[in-house]
Amino acid sequence: MSCRNIYLFALGGLLAAGAVIADPSDRLIRKASRYFAPLPATMPGGENDTAERVALGKQLYFDKRLSRNDAQACVSCHRIENGAAGVDNLPTSPGAEGQTGTRNSPTVINAGWQKTQFWDGRASDLADQAGQPILNPIEMGMPDEQTVVDKLAAIPEYQDAFTKAFPDAQPALSYANLREAIAAFERTLRSESRFDDFLRGDGNALSAQEQRGLAAFMKVNCVRCHDGPLIGGTLHEKLGVEAPFHNTADQGRYEVTKNEEDRMVFKVSQLRNVALTGPWFHDGSGTDLGEVVRIMARIQLATALKDDEVDDIVAFLHALNGKELAGSP
Ligand code: HEC
Ligand code: HEC
Repeated sequence: MSCRNIYLFALGGLLAAGAVIADPSDRLIRKASRYFAPLPATMPGGENDTAERVALGKQLYFDKRLSRNDAQACVSCHRIENGAAGVDNLPTSPGAEGQTGTRNSPTVINAGWQKTQFWDGRASDLADQAGQPILNPIEMGMPDEQTVVDKLAAIPEYQDAFTKAFPDAQPALSYANLREAIAAFERTLRSESRFDDFLRGDGNALSAQEQRGLAAFMKVNCVRCHDGPLIGGTLHEKLGVEAPFHNTADQGRYEVTKNEEDRMVFKVSQLRNVALTGPWFHDGSGTDLGEVVRIMARIQLATALKDDEVDDIVAFLHALNGKELAGSP
């Protein structure tokens, strides 16, 4: 063998060895990066958030006085204490006076990255959303904005907190500023998962089964709707593309727009923390995550998943749990 041939032989050997040792999860990370992204550092709209504004928003979020009979706060339906995942884990939530709404409480964690808020996308952002439950008769039940402002204005600590949070506003204590402060607090509610570590290049962050589930999630085309940093939350899509959903009482966006093409159109749910936020679906009718995955594949993609594919996808969904939340593996 000539020197040159020995050199080429050795080089070929190195390349072959390199191909063998290369972590197979590298390819999966590259493929997943075409559809997903790690959680960004900050939520949109937070440019003017100050520590004072976030602190005020937090106080309001926990304050039952925002409801008609001092019985209910945001946190009553969107629990975040002790590592709770931003929901009440009930099919649908009782309001301040005990009447039950028709929809399941979605999580407030990471919600600010969604393109719209509510199952039917009727609120454009967190601030727009935050003003609504307070006045909703079957939620916190306050009669109108002025009553809320007057009630808070009678509490000296709120006068002070609003002035500090909105030093340039006249008056500082207004319904618009209440909405903005709650939104500022909600923009701090974010949860990183092991999937973020995986996307950033740590091939060991997901187990073999979770990686198989991720591969299946992409192969059967769940990513047609559930993609981006939240694995959803950006599109409004028909629920029941290939076969009808089992409950058509709630027609989704149609209830808001009255356009025929919006019948059964709902916001594509974000799937971060989904394993912690059951029961599932807008009506809370999904009680088993594996069954929910099977239904999704059947009615959205006309695909009958095998049992092991369901198990693998469910394992992948668990890997989207926030690392600091209670119940994450
Ligand atoms: C009585 C229970 C209840 C209370 C109190 C409540 N919510 Fe909700 N929240 C819900 C339900 C149910 C929905 C879904 C309603 C819908 O889609 O029509 C929801 C939706 C949301 C969403 C949209 C999330 C998404 O993914 O679309 C956010 C954000 C939110 N609530 C924040 C708040 C804040 C802030 C407060 C306090 C001002 C509050 N909620 C009070 C039950 C409640
Ligand atoms: C055509 C779009 C589309 C496709 C494809 C799709 N989904 Fe969904 N997904 C939705 C919509 C819309 C919802 C909201 C359902 C509702 O309003 O009850 C949803 C909800 C879910 C939920 C429940 C979330 C919650 O918090 O209740 C899970 C879990 C889910 N999808 C998983 C999947 C999986 C796994 C696949 C692939 C097998 C998939 N989806 C394919 C549109 C889609």
